[in-house]
Amino acid sequence: MKPVILDVDTGIDDALAIAYALNSPELEVIGLTTCFGNGPIDYTTRNTLLILEQLERSVPVYIGADKPLSRPAKKFPTHVHGEDSLGNKAEKDPVMEAESVGAVDYIISEVKKRPHEITIIAVGPLTNLALAVQKEPEIASLVKEVVIMGGAVFVRGNVTPYSEANVITDPEAADCVFSSGLPVTIVGLDVTMQTLLPNSKLADWRALGTDVGHFFADMTSFYMQAYETFHPGIGGCALHDPLAVGVVIDPGFVKREKWNVKVILEGEETGRTVAYAEGETKIQVCTQVEAETFLNHFLNRLF
Ligand code: RIB
Ligand code: CA
Repeated sequence: MKPVILDVDTGIDDALAIAYALNSPELEVIGLTTCFGNGPIDYTTRNTLLILEQLERSVPVYIGADKPLSRPAKKFPTHVHGEDSLGNKAEKDPVMEAESVGAVDYIISEVKKRPHEITIIAVGPLTNLALAVQKEPEIASLVKEVVIMGGAVFVRGNVTPYSEANVITDPEAADCVFSSGLPVTIVGLDVTMQTLLPNSKLADWRALGTDVGHFFADMTSFYMQAYETFHPGIGGCALHDPLAVGVVIDPGFVKREKWNVKVILEGEETGRTVAYAEGETKIQVCTQVEAETFLNHFLNRLF
């Protein structure tokens, strides 16, 4: 089993990623760290705890950043994830509580305690990871791997034509992570937009006749309606965050290329992830995905 820390801004596809990770025997999810992004930190933390309760799993949750490293926070994407950042399914407060230790200190302590063992899967803004590597640069050489959902290296963005949501929400954090020496695999829109969950699958989840099946179907339905608004006729939603988890479960789902990557920090192209070949790098960009193989694996694991 691979010990992983899942850094989330729970949101709807984050919730799907959490379920996929917890239902995959290849992974040992040792902790969840939360970040602002799809909503304010109190929402994303509450939502993470609610998803754990839905899944009847107990994994420690550590609260992270509530704003970007250095720039004002953007408006939250309520049009994509709902006012509650969970597709209007955050109908109660969780019983479970987050840990008292903060996300950044947890990441640092766990990586130092288990050198070269921990994989960090980051599927929100990279603020927590940036703060951790700024506070303790040594972790860059101690983390086994970092796999992020973020960026749009050779394709259009989803917030502006140039930028993807997780990166533009905190461009400085992403640029810090990419230049830190951390061994990063970038699972960007280059591959995630090819992993569409068809609308029809929600009926299968409802047919399970379980509370969790109905919960996830209702939640994901909100996300699919948002996708239909931006991409009329798309007939589903992209499994952005689940694919980052999938790449850790089975690296064979994707093809990777080594690139240096920097982030544009000002002007119209702010948040753009730019690949360049010069110089050594520990960054790999996912450029191709076995979409159908991954989708079937995800669906088989989810419930
Ligand atoms: O661009 C998609 C990413 O932004 C996903 O991680 C989604 O949850 C949002 O955080
Ligand atoms: Ca996310």
